[in-house]
Amino acid sequence: MKTPDFSTAPPFSREGPTETPSGQSISEPSVVISGTGHYLPHKVLTNTDLTKIVDTNEEWILTRTGISERRIAEPTETSGTMATEAARMAIANANLQAEDIDLVIVATITPDQPFPATACYVQTTLGMRTIAAFDVEAACSGFLYILDIAHAMVRNGPYRHALIIGTEKLSAITDWQDRSTCILFGDGAGAAVLSRSSFSGKKTGILDTTLGADGANGHILQMPGGGCRIPATPDSITSRQHFLKMNGREVFKLAVKVMEKASLDILARNHLQADEIHSIIPHQANIRIIEMLSSRLEIPMERFFINLDQYGNTSAASIPIALHEARESGFCPSGAYSILVGFGAGLTWGATLIRWP
Ligand code: ACO
Repeated sequence: MKTPDFSTAPPFSREGPTETPSGQSISEPSVVISGTGHYLPHKVLTNTDLTKIVDTNEEWILTRTGISERRIAEPTETSGTMATEAARMAIANANLQAEDIDLVIVATITPDQPFPATACYVQTTLGMRTIAAFDVEAACSGFLYILDIAHAMVRNGPYRHALIIGTEKLSAITDWQDRSTCILFGDGAGAAVLSRSSFSGKKTGILDTTLGADGANGHILQMPGGGCRIPATPDSITSRQHFLKMNGREVFKLAVKVMEKASLDILARNHLQADEIHSIIPHQANIRIIEMLSSRLEIPMERFFINLDQYGNTSAASIPIALHEARESGFCPSGAYSILVGFGAGLTWGATLIRWP
């Protein structure tokens, strides 16, 4: 997708819309997605491959999840290295250089290490200035959380271009002895550049985001070990506390409920009807969750961007990988509305409304 040059965007004014002495209106600031990128490891793990690891079969995986294959990172590939490659692509896609970026935020549940932040690794690896860089953890909703944070920071200044990245090496926390979870996940990274722009007619760019969380349901999807409550000990390792644990049925039910609510909330408060939405870019967890959402919102499946068949669930990377592919494949035409919507451990959820410039 060809992207405009944002280097001439006017400086932000805290006074909001103003007029020139002659009465002409000056355009208002808005925040647009000026570039996207992704990185997927080359190694493919198919459903057939999984039948050699756990007691499962290809048909069960495909019909219960919609997933055919997923990508698995090599030992040398980390959330940081994958994030760096996705970021490199997004910055080039925005017609910018690494030194133009004013802020880096990474969403991940699989950082390279507990600290320092993976965002700091990306910042130095790409040769950026000594700009602010930090990580956020909101599981599969992480990208929507950092999008909203970056949107506010760019909208209110002084940041002009923010780089946001969802990246995961879920294969590192997947229990390869647990057939109910190991079939679901994959590795990868997706990135976007948010840039301050201006509009003078119909408002475009990132229009609104709703976020939520329900900590009371934290236990249904978690990794118990590795934090200060259960630090690594021989016992925690033997009892497999350092792997992801999930009550799939409970997550499934709540996922449909919160994604429906987030989508309806964002439609209602922006005075839009479901049939005005050109495309939905959902978190890629399970095709059956997306089909139920489609049915409840009365938005046909053709308007949902789907790539979970190829990549599985990549948690915080899932929405930005899909966003990049959706933009590249003409799913986001100028003037059209899109909704990004997701849920994840926490339980967390969110939805973002975009109108493409
Ligand atoms: N192969 C064959 N059989 C299996 C497998 C497998 N891989 N896994 C489970 N089964 C069996 C179960 O043992 C069970 O057998 P039983 O009836 O004899 O007890 C049967 O299949 C049905 O199991 P369910 O768990 O009820 O299957 P369900 O239809 O709910 O599908 C799934 C399971 C795919 C996990 C689904 O619940 C789901 O997608 N949940 C949401 C997951 C999700 O979105 N997670 C997001 C996490 S991402 C994040 O935030 C990090």
